[in-house]
Amino acid sequence: MYHYCNTPASLRGLFEELYDVSLIEDRVKALSEVEREVRECRKCRLWATRTKPVPGHGNPNAEVMLIGEAPGYNEDLEGKPFVGAAGKFLDQLLALGELKRSDVFITNVLKCRPPNNRDPLPDEVEACTPYLDRQVAIIKPKVIICLGRHSASYVLSKAGVKGHMRHGYVSISAVRGQVFNVSYEGLKVMVIPTYHPAAGLYNPKLKKVIMEDFVMIGRTLKGARTTP
Ligand code: URA
Ligand code: SF4
Repeated sequence: MYHYCNTPASLRGLFEELYDVSLIEDRVKALSEVEREVRECRKCRLWATRTKPVPGHGNPNAEVMLIGEAPGYNEDLEGKPFVGAAGKFLDQLLALGELKRSDVFITNVLKCRPPNNRDPLPDEVEACTPYLDRQVAIIKPKVIICLGRHSASYVLSKAGVKGHMRHGYVSISAVRGQVFNVSYEGLKVMVIPTYHPAAGLYNPKLKKVIMEDFVMIGRTLKGARTTP
């Protein structure tokens, strides 16, 4: 699926030095292995009702990883994340942050669609998130953008961030737009939660806030790139 290396072996050494090609190849291989396991996975009940699993998609070398909740109707049919209405809005949001889909890696907490888009259940999150953890460990992003409270709850609790809780989940309105400098399984990463794009489609006030968050994300990325 990724074709980074059509280079003759004689030129590899040079390119490897210049572009760290071997690292990209390793990442592509490791990500494909996660993808293969997800396609065969039956670790929770959702395998039985899914059409296609949605392992995630994007640049294996991404500085920015976006983590949503779970595939919806369209994602389940196509096998790709954020291809429906929320995905169209996400494309606009990425543009506000001066990002393109080809720059980022997009995935979800759950890789299979819950029936009728119901909330993920705790045992499903527990069964599925080892895949997400491996994707983070392979890609080593500088920034993780959490889309919605399920993503923010999982990532912030994994990173040991305490507080901001409501009814057993992180209160997304309390944490959105904040930058958390954390360690996610040994990886130093900036976690920035915001509302889920689908929430913005139904609520114009939230829509405005998500758009502002993505403008801030763009500025934060620029700052992070210019400070060594
Ligand atoms: N909502 C999500 O959380 N993820 C998708 O991939 C699509 C919609
Ligand atoms: Fe496996 Fe995750 Fe799909 Fe459950 S949701 S079957 S754990 S890939």
